[in-house]
Amino acid sequence: MTNTHALQAAAHCVTVPLGDRSYDIRIKPGILGEIGSCLSALGIKGKVGVVTNPVVGRRYAPGVLRSLRAAGLDVSTIVLPDGERAKSLHSVSAILDALIRARFERGSVLVALGGGVIGDVTGFAASIYMRGIPFVQVPTTLVAQVDSSVGGKTGVNHPLGKNLIGTFSQPRLVLVDPTTLRTLPPRERVAGLAEVIKYGVIADQTFFAYLEQHMDRLLKLEAEPVGHVIARSCEIKASVVAQDERESDLRRILNYGHTIGHALESLGGYRKLIHGEAVAIGMVQEAGLARHLGRCAPDVVERQRALVRRAGLPDALPETTFARLWTAMQHDKKVAQGRVYCVLPERIGKVVIQPLEREACRQWFDQQRRRGEPARPRSGPRA
Ligand code: NAD
Ligand code: GLY
Repeated sequence: MTNTHALQAAAHCVTVPLGDRSYDIRIKPGILGEIGSCLSALGIKGKVGVVTNPVVGRRYAPGVLRSLRAAGLDVSTIVLPDGERAKSLHSVSAILDALIRARFERGSVLVALGGGVIGDVTGFAASIYMRGIPFVQVPTTLVAQVDSSVGGKTGVNHPLGKNLIGTFSQPRLVLVDPTTLRTLPPRERVAGLAEVIKYGVIADQTFFAYLEQHMDRLLKLEAEPVGHVIARSCEIKASVVAQDERESDLRRILNYGHTIGHALESLGGYRKLIHGEAVAIGMVQEAGLARHLGRCAPDVVERQRALVRRAGLPDALPETTFARLWTAMQHDKKVAQGRVYCVLPERIGKVVIQPLEREACRQWFDQQRRRGEPARPRSGPRA
């Protein structure tokens, strides 16, 4: 395939069907340079605020600003610090201050240029400024391209817990430029693959098999498989969100791997594992738990373990006690009436949500330990 053909093959458009709040996710190498015409096509005029951080802004803001200005838009930038610490009410306040000073109006627009942190904060600020102004997601990490930029969960952390403050507010448009993944640190790139694998397990065995077949090409960032994988992940998320936008039931399946994953993140003080690594361990372990509970066959666990390992992700429970793990699992957002609800695979492509009994989980944990777990987590501390 010539380079041009490869790039064309890598272009996709996925719609999130939510009635008059429907929007497109446009996936195309180089689309950052077309952002001005994309916004004009939506009828956006006037003031546009681009929210980014120094790491992403240095690389990608100049091209984005050029394209927006060429489309006649009145553009300003708001730069937040890098990292999860920036997902705070302080950042929201900084954005709101900038919007008020620059006299942003109801029809003005925010553009989130960055990873999930920038996307979540920007979407939240947009959803509360003047009771809501439009925003556009321009995700630059794999986590953001396949997950956080889609579906309208916005928000910030509270000192007492992650993502405790937020809104459901859908973007007007999502523009995904997969070439931005080339500058992403390898550890962040691989972490995003955990969420991709998750989509295969929860909804699509053919997609899971595709990942098994093409993982090496994905790791090399080949345009055609990367475009396909982002598009299929977004299609699955769009379909779930369209059926249950506010997570009253079905949307909980998107949290597969997260009951144990979130517990491990918090036990490590959010420093030892990054989110995707914790989700990778969580998926393999929750599959093991499903196997222990008689929910699935051994190959459902082993195929996930093998794929997670091939992606370069960890799969083993770090050293901990059952009491600590179980206590941390009680803080999961799927806890209802004091019971921990967990997403468990029945087969690749099909999951169920069921409450967990403490005693059955303890037996599973003890059995793991007798089998020689824990192996050391394969990743080091977060750089
Ligand atoms: P992140 O936004 O912190 O980005 C990771 C790092 O990569 C940062 O240092 C960032 O500056 C850098 N970076 C971003 N793009 C880059 C690029 N193209 N080249 C080089 N460096 C780049 O982390 P993330 O993994 O994107 O997102 C995690 C956040 O997303 C968490 O706060 C999580 O809670 C949230 N999240 C939200 C949802 C949702 O539905 N809203 C879903 C999943 C995750
Ligand atoms: N990332 C889970 C969700 O959007 O529901």
